Amino acid sequence: MRPGFLWGASTSAYQVEGAWDADGKGLSVQDARTEFPEGTTDFRVASDHYHRYAEDVALFAELGLKAYRFSIAWTRIVPDGDGEPNPAGIDFYHRLIDELLAHGIEPIVTMYHFDLPQALQEKGGWGSRATVDAFVRYAGLLFREYGSKVRYWLTINEQNMMILHGTALGLVPAGSANPQRELYQHNHHMLVAQARAMALCHELLPTARIGPAPNIACVYPASSAPEDVVAAADFAAIRNWLYLDVAVHGRYNPTAWAYLAEHGLTPQFAEGDQAALAAARPDFIAFNYYASHTVAAPSDDGDDIGHTGDQQIAVGESGVYRGTKNPHLKTNAFGWEVDPVGFRTTFREIYDRYRLPLMVTENGLGAFDALEDGDVVHDQYRIEYFSDHIREMQHAAADGVDIIGYCPWSAVDLVSTHQGVSKRYGFVYVDRDEFDLRELRRIRKDSFHWYQQVIARNGVLA
Ligand code: BG6
Repeated sequence: MRPGFLWGASTSAYQVEGAWDADGKGLSVQDARTEFPEGTTDFRVASDHYHRYAEDVALFAELGLKAYRFSIAWTRIVPDGDGEPNPAGIDFYHRLIDELLAHGIEPIVTMYHFDLPQALQEKGGWGSRATVDAFVRYAGLLFREYGSKVRYWLTINEQNMMILHGTALGLVPAGSANPQRELYQHNHHMLVAQARAMALCHELLPTARIGPAPNIACVYPASSAPEDVVAAADFAAIRNWLYLDVAVHGRYNPTAWAYLAEHGLTPQFAEGDQAALAAARPDFIAFNYYASHTVAAPSDDGDDIGHTGDQQIAVGESGVYRGTKNPHLKTNAFGWEVDPVGFRTTFREIYDRYRLPLMVTENGLGAFDALEDGDVVHDQYRIEYFSDHIREMQHAAADGVDIIGYCPWSAVDLVSTHQGVSKRYGFVYVDRDEFDLRELRRIRKDSFHWYQQVIARNGVLA
């Protein structure tokens, strides 16, 4: 890859830090959750990165990371989301950032990754305009506090997944007759909050770079039937382009807007929203990619919810599109379709539309890794997944796409959004299981040694 390419890795605060109530931290919606899928743990200890960050950063340095993408827990900085800042929480991220910089690792900061302060949630969450103002104040605090050390900022992680899978990802609208309509109003508020935060960043930190971080994936039609092609374009507009068109151009995608209008989901604009959206522009686009999606035209009987799924499985929406399996792709242990070539296509589609530098902020394989005698983890399947995706990323670069960084998920094992700690992603194994914390020892997986070589050779694959 080009000189200065940001070979990195990613985590998010609530999934890795633990210390859920330490040193003045407030509760987030993730801490307040009381129900988890059977057999899976909560996020209270996670990988205990809060207490072991120095050991973790030393491992990242040994891995050769040029960048580390992590999120700041809003509730460490401002415990109730909108009141007094918490000096101990602010200090934690100074220490983490300083540790990264001391090892020559570029910090890439996500400002909000699924962990809205519970106090704001109780006052209406993203349904309330006050949350927009609270986010902008929080953003200003981050820029003023860390702006001299942090160059790359990401606004909101996977806003599109929060809207499409709101209940699972901590964005649950209070009992409403029309939750989908509420979600799109929440969505609009987040888009305005993001635009105002980007503008503020440019005002306060003229040399910083800021961008959105949605989950973007190419959408295939199930066949060459023209109706399937339209359904795929509709889903792409609803899933992908709505978010990036607003972030980059300050306007809703027309196909997505027509869908919202047809279903009675259009958000209310307040005075100033239009101007705020139009005034902001990202410096780059970050995106997460795990799987592509394949959809067909809706069926005549209106039964288009073909199967259940999580954020990486297109489930369908009655009368709009039907999620289907792609017969050309294999799936991982969790039913996600693995599609490295789709990664190349996704790069090209985003770059063709927006002509902004691209950064990958997540890509990876969740698996049931086994710690074997001698402290080894043979995760060859993950090495293959990454090899295939990095190769296709290089094809995309050769196609002319401007790619500035690749931060796969995840730097160390952490708690999955849905399947606890048993579903692992890290280059570093964390020795705990769902309910037995053991010693939380860190163990380098085979993929650690492999990625170390890839970075050392600037992407040349063995
Ligand atoms: C993305 C999220 O949706 O995918 C991460 O940004 C998440 O927070 C990752 O962990 C993998 O999903 P999961 O459900 O396997 O943890």
